[in-house]
Amino acid sequence: MRRKGFLWGTVAIWIAVLGYWGMSSGAKDCDTQTGIPAEKVAEYVHAVLQSDRTFYTVHVVERLQAKGVVTASENWQSANLLPLPAQFLKESNQLAGSTRTGIGYRLISLWPINKQNRGKSEFENRGLQETLKDPDRPYTEVVMNGPDAYLQAIYADKAVSQACIGCHNAHPDSPKRDFKQNDVMGGMIISIPLKQ
Ligand code: HEC
Repeated sequence: MRRKGFLWGTVAIWIAVLGYWGMSSGAKDCDTQTGIPAEKVAEYVHAVLQSDRTFYTVHVVERLQAKGVVTASENWQSANLLPLPAQFLKESNQLAGSTRTGIGYRLISLWPINKQNRGKSEFENRGLQETLKDPDRPYTEVVMNGPDAYLQAIYADKAVSQACIGCHNAHPDSPKRDFKQNDVMGGMIISIPLKQ
């Protein structure tokens, strides 16, 4: 009887030791997961935003325009039309703003249809030039907004579909009318807050 009690006691101690070891190695896994660099976070966000916008442009805008069902236009709300891909991103950014995560994103360009979408700082203009030269690499910098630091990453915004170039080349306010498929048309700028 005493021998049995001793045996169970030993088993219980082993279970406790293994449990603690398992928990602490699990905690270590969590530690490594919290240390994702802001550049990587920007890359993840860009991958999702770009995929959504490409899908919207190719499978909604281009498809419905080609079939003559409905077109995309600036005054989409009042005229019952589709939002432009740029407006799709603007509206999404506004909704993201209400999440209080501090994340933000917008489109800029060296040849903007809307003059408000020009580079607004030395960093933005440099980013547009650098990503035009090397479209596969984002241009990043830490930028201060008052006391708050943000990682800002600019990604080349390419003409992924015929709809992009068809509309920009024909738009009366467009300063450039010879865009070709896969050309860099501007940049997507993503801001990630460095402190919560
Ligand atoms: C049906 C027309 C249309 C289509 C399709 C379209 N755009 Fe635009 N795009 C515009 C207009 C108009 C603006 C200006 C929106 C605003 O007022 O901010 C704009 C804005 C932009 C901007 C910001 C600079 C600027 O010109 O004001 C970029 C960059 C851009 N578009 C790239 C693209 C890309 C890439 C695609 C395809 C994925 C695309 N656009 C598809 C009409 C279009």
